[in-house]
Amino acid sequence: MDKLVIQGGHPLSGDIYVSGAKNSVVAILPATLLLDVPVILENVPDISDVKICLSILESLGAEIDKLSEGVYRISCLYVREHEVPEELAQKMRASYYFLGALLGRCGKAKAAMPGGCYLGERPIDQHLLAFEALGADFHLIEYKNETDGEGYVGAVELSADHLYANHISLNVVSVGATMNAILSAVKADGTTTIENCAREPHIVDLANFLNYMGAHISGAGTHKITIEGVRELRGNAMDGSVEVKTYSIVPDQIEAGTFMIAAAATRGDVYIHGVIPHHLRDIADRMEECGVMVEAIENEDIVHVCVNKGTMFHGTNVKTEPYPGFPTDMQPQMAVLLALSEGQSNITESVWEDRFKYVGELKRMGANIDLTRDGAIIWGVPGLHGANVRACDLRAGAAVVIAGLAAEGTTEITDIHHIERGYSHIVEKLRSIGADIRRISM
Ligand code: EPU
Repeated sequence: MDKLVIQGGHPLSGDIYVSGAKNSVVAILPATLLLDVPVILENVPDISDVKICLSILESLGAEIDKLSEGVYRISCLYVREHEVPEELAQKMRASYYFLGALLGRCGKAKAAMPGGCYLGERPIDQHLLAFEALGADFHLIEYKNETDGEGYVGAVELSADHLYANHISLNVVSVGATMNAILSAVKADGTTTIENCAREPHIVDLANFLNYMGAHISGAGTHKITIEGVRELRGNAMDGSVEVKTYSIVPDQIEAGTFMIAAAATRGDVYIHGVIPHHLRDIADRMEECGVMVEAIENEDIVHVCVNKGTMFHGTNVKTEPYPGFPTDMQPQMAVLLALSEGQSNITESVWEDRFKYVGELKRMGANIDLTRDGAIIWGVPGLHGANVRACDLRAGAAVVIAGLAAEGTTEITDIHHIERGYSHIVEKLRSIGADIRRISM
């Protein structure tokens, strides 16, 4: 029941460091179920979705040792379970990756339908299409809604005597379905091709991790991925070595983008460290259109964001699209910068139907925004003022934090558990670049 209290109006300035990517680690942790040796993961962000993933792994029988901050040794050698506990599965969207990983490991899996941010309908038909193509049967377990008696799918059960490679053509570009197709095909017999894949950095990271451990996956980051199934994933234990391999999670593109917008919206001067600049290209382009200076320092993995004195931001148009387009997970944060940019800006949301819950909160802070059928129109205002607002979901929460930092006066944010699902030590990190932000118990 804690809340965040922000005294806004201080330009952010200095150096800030990005953690490992949430959307990568929530797939790589389940992927450890496919390994035939222990592994050490580094750069694991300290977020609640990771805690849930680790609890699920432990409940299945994995041995997990925290070696230091962000570094875990994980051994799934003695895992015997194939059912994800319902109360844990429902806490996190990415629990569906345990379906693909358990199916790939032992030919059976059961998990409650995933929870996570409500962003409108979140079907998993493309995941099921991939599992079925590889030879799995699925069974959707229906429950009755206690309030209205309507039926709904409460859990998914998968089983396969054997997994055989196949050609999988996804009808929708889906991050989750692409990841699950990889997880379930990596040990299937033969060569699987997946077409119409998502291309996000976290998909490349999952493929890199599995390849590092002995998988044969090519094409990750393009529309077509090819997987030659392997029997074992033993890392360098193949060559007789007993050394446990260490893999470092890719930096979080969305956390980096969130800090970039926070720096701009507060008219600050911030060096964001530990990033992969080309992951941030489209975000940087839209910010530059608004008049923000964004400089990528490629060799040093740094992005520098700076607003020159006297700069007036001007509005632009943003359309969310699968990578390498503008990420839907940055849309609410970008809306804050647009709310402070002269003239009219248009946002078109093409991934999620309900990603505008932050609009009501920003309006309380003085933003001028109207919702349209698939987006929002924003008319820039000279400034925002502090207010009592909610973090309606993870990225909506990031947006109100940025708005609070840029606004005059005090902003109080409740429901911060949403923010903690995806931002590691956000209070400490923002304080280190001059933000007046505190977490207090209510
Ligand atoms: N879709 C289908 N059928 C499916 C799967 C998806 O129709 O079987 C549709 C969805 O309804 C949506 C579109 O395809 O319209 C894209 O969904 P996708 O499957 O790519 O989303 P996801 O895998 O459930 C991940 C991230 C989200 C991020 C989206 C899009 C994880 C754990 N989550 O979700 O992250 O918004 O990709 O990039 O990786 C966040 O971090 O705040 C977040 C919501």
